[in-house]
Amino acid sequence: MKKIIITIDGYSSCGKSTLAKQLASRLNYLYIDSGAMYRAITLYFIQQHMDWNDPAQVRDALGNIRLEFIHNQISGQSDMYLNDENVEQMIREMLVAEKVSEVAAVREVREFAVAQQQKMGAGRGIVMDGRDIGTVVFPHAELKIFMTADPAIRVERRFKELYQKNKNITLHEVKENLELRDYIDANREVSPLRKADDAIVLDNSQLTMQEQLELVMQWVEDAI
Ligand code: C5P
Repeated sequence: MKKIIITIDGYSSCGKSTLAKQLASRLNYLYIDSGAMYRAITLYFIQQHMDWNDPAQVRDALGNIRLEFIHNQISGQSDMYLNDENVEQMIREMLVAEKVSEVAAVREVREFAVAQQQKMGAGRGIVMDGRDIGTVVFPHAELKIFMTADPAIRVERRFKELYQKNKNITLHEVKENLELRDYIDANREVSPLRKADDAIVLDNSQLTMQEQLELVMQWVEDAI
């Protein structure tokens, strides 16, 4: 059967990665979490106490970054590795979430990440989620999905997910972070978050995960 590229873009915490993982597993495709790459770059910049508004510093730092997704036998998922270190847990922390949208708005950072993402999709049979995948990374993808959901539902979902790992986190903190990231992502100069003209909108506020998957599988069949 023909292998295609599926892109999933949208606001923070719409459930993009959940859907992407389900699709990849159903179709036996590769799943790439492009946000993890921006998070890992941000972690490195924080660790190096860098000024990411200085293009020369950014270029030097990017030359020292190696990103890899490596399969985790226990979880069955791919973990993000930064220079041979598993940073999967660290990149999900608030410290990184608070800065990632600033770092992801830097032109040199985007060029670095996009080039790697395009290489990963070269063989097709891939599901990639992010903010600019259907518009910039794979403008010729066969199936593009733009996900959205009620903001209150998104905050609730993200809070539940983060609270499992950190009982000190507050709903207010999560709400502020999502709003800030969405604002920066949608308003930045380079590759802002927007729906590709040929993307299908998926509002999952009222859908169960099963309903959502069945609906999208129908779109996949139509696209293949
Ligand atoms: O998907 P996730 O929420 O983990 O992404 C973290 C951040 O990385 C986003 O808020 C956004 O600033 C940035 N990002 C991006 N382009 C992508 C994926 C993520 O700018 N393709």
